[in-house]
Amino acid sequence: MLEGLDASGKTTQLRLLGEALAARGIPHLATREPGGTQLGARLREVLLDPARAMRPLTELLLMVADRHEHVEGVIRPALAAGQWVLCSRYTLSSLAYQGFGRGLDLDVVRRLNELATGGLEPDYVFLLDLPPRVAYERTRDRDRFEEEGLEFFTQVRVGYLELLRGVPRGYVIDGTLPPHKVCGEILARLPLSGL
Ligand SMILES: Nc1ncnc2c1ncn2[C@@H]1O[C@H](COP(=O)(O)OP(=O)(O)OP(=O)(O)O)[C@@H](O)[C@H]1O
Ligand SMILES: [Mg+2]
Repeated sequence: MLEGLDASGKTTQLRLLGEALAARGIPHLATREPGGTQLGARLREVLLDPARAMRPLTELLLMVADRHEHVEGVIRPALAAGQWVLCSRYTLSSLAYQGFGRGLDLDVVRRLNELATGGLEPDYVFLLDLPPRVAYERTRDRDRFEEEGLEFFTQVRVGYLELLRGVPRGYVIDGTLPPHKVCGEILARLPLSGL
């Protein structure tokens, strides 16, 4: 599971990790939230549209609706087929963005996450950490979240770092490193030897 601010490099790492697993002959699936299913792609459009304001709870409910479809329709079937699932964003994103960022009650976010996932937890979580200013400078066409100011992203980052401390096999990776170094840091923590 890859987590991090907008433009922290999740999509880039999903691609590099996919290549690294393919080179080792490990069956895998790369996917993302929101938007990892057909319905999810529609939800993603609505969620990221800068022209569409919505209340924080609405945002959370749409995110967990997307997550439920994704877990049941994509992640569980892939795991059952013996694939490694590489996913950009999951439950921690809702806790960091809708909880720490938007100020919703963390217990409400936790309960909805639990409902959406049936308790399915990732084996590994990698937080691509970087200062919000660096992330912001990497973005061009800004979506609804990226339109938020630095203060919002500072809150989200603080949340991520705090949340990561409670995650088993949760690692903070320096997202300011060049892409291949970030990928190396992640691979070094995965159980690849002996495969
Ligand atoms: N380690 C890196 N160092 C410098 N630039 C990077 C690095 N990783 C990615 N980038 C660049 O930053 C931009 C955002 O990267 P990417 O799309 O992978 O981030 P993301 O976390 O998936 O963003 P989003 O949350 O918006 O989907 C891209 O232009 C990408 O080329
Ligand atoms: Mg991305």
